[in-house]
Amino acid sequence: MKKNHIGTIQKIEEINRNVYSIEFSASSLTNIEPGEYISILCDGLTLRRPFSVADFKNGKITVLFKKKGKGTQYISSLKIGDEIEFSAPLGNTFSIENKKTLLIGAGIGVAPLFYLNKKLKGIGVETFFASGFLSTEDILGEFDFASTDDGSNGNKGSICDYLESLIVDFKPEKIVSCAPHPVLKIVSETAQKYGIESEIAMEKIMACGIGICRGCVIQVKKDGRIQNATVCKDGPVFKGEEVVW
Ligand SMILES: Cc1cc2nc3c(=O)[nH]c(=O)nc-3n(C[C@H](O)[C@H](O)[C@H](O)COP(=O)(O)OP(=O)(O)OC[C@H]3O[C@@H](n4cnc5c(N)ncnc54)[C@H](O)[C@@H]3O)c2cc1C
Ligand code: FES
Repeated sequence: MKKNHIGTIQKIEEINRNVYSIEFSASSLTNIEPGEYISILCDGLTLRRPFSVADFKNGKITVLFKKKGKGTQYISSLKIGDEIEFSAPLGNTFSIENKKTLLIGAGIGVAPLFYLNKKLKGIGVETFFASGFLSTEDILGEFDFASTDDGSNGNKGSICDYLESLIVDFKPEKIVSCAPHPVLKIVSETAQKYGIESEIAMEKIMACGIGICRGCVIQVKKDGRIQNATVCKDGPVFKGEEVVW
């Protein structure tokens, strides 16, 4: 159930150009699952900023974020020992199933997939983690496969250019993705082409974050008809084949 928490920053560092890793503890938060997100109060800003959880262990949350505007500028200025106020857990979760899973990220979209990959491996699920980045210096962590737009790591192009060969080689039973909208659309359509189930984490600009303002509505096909769904409350995780693009 959603609750407000006050955390204390244990670690904050710029791990790549404009990308930060922040780790904080909050004794009131006992658990958060992969896919669920938190919403951080930023000094002087009315609307909290939503972020995925890249890891949660020993009561500590890790968030990876890209510096964009006022909110992320503020978070990047925090120091070890500073307090951070956030709401959590928010949204729904990826399903944790014993199915051979291909994880597809792109840029900062990989953040929640690190946590999901860790959980899946922890219960013995075979996974293959692939992601696309702009350049080698933007690659965030360890992957089974990474592509770069400029080809500087030897695999030139979008991760979508490699999707079909990854499916053919790895033969997943399930594909999970968190990435920009055009990548999610391709992942969802390609998964359907190969008859593989998919789960995708959508991103939409959020205002209320609790399903009231209807600012983050998308359309989904459910029970044979098209319905509205909020990314903030019904999502952010949806079945790829359900989303109306
Ligand atoms: C469920 C979810 C999970 C996310 N997880 C991450 C993450 O793990 N790491 C990360 O770097 N970013 C993540 N984002 C995007 C992140 O929320 C935005 O980059 C951030 O809110 C930008 O705030 P800002 O004030 O710095 O930028 P500004 O551009 O000044 O923001 C202005 C307004 O737009 C909203 N906004 C801007 N861009 C986005 C966006 N892409 N998505 C949603 N709202 C946006 C802000 O919340 C704010 O209300 C996530 C977004 C969602 C919806
Ligand atoms: S942000 Fe208000 S309904 Fe989703």
